[in-house]
Amino acid sequence: MTSVLFVCLGNICRSPTAEGVFRAMAAQAGADVATDSAGTASWHRGKSPDPRSQAAAAAAGYPIDDLRARQVSTEDFHRFDYILAMDQSNFDDLEALRPADSTAKLSLFLSHCDEPATEVPDPYYGEADGFAEVIRLVEKASAGLLQDITSRS
Ligand code: 4NP
Repeated sequence: MTSVLFVCLGNICRSPTAEGVFRAMAAQAGADVATDSAGTASWHRGKSPDPRSQAAAAAAGYPIDDLRARQVSTEDFHRFDYILAMDQSNFDDLEALRPADSTAKLSLFLSHCDEPATEVPDPYYGEADGFAEVIRLVEKASAGLLQDITSRS
């Protein structure tokens, strides 16, 4: 079993979307993975994904209404095989939190696909099309990550 943690800032837009898309693709492929998501910030702890993210994900076939926000912790660096940061700021915050004996592989999520963008843009304060763009990027990166994981095991 491979464990995968998706991390963004609030854990209500990008990372729950990533978890929902990746877990569906992994299930479809019959891959033995455990998934979770978390935020570097604690503001939305216990909350459901943003309704705009829920709507965009459901429209693309990925229900995420069961997910609840939590803050990332140092234990996550031992509990998960892979930790995927949605943007560079999340990556830098995770690097700062990472314990010296961390066993997790930390990477930018989009580094697992050939998308020219390196970051999944934060859609929280933007227009509705930002949520559809998150789905597009996350689908691409999920397919690449799944391939990376299954080719290693
Ligand atoms: P996320 O988006 O990091 O993709 O979950 C955000 C959600 C909430 C806030 C910022 C980004 N916020 O400022 O509350």
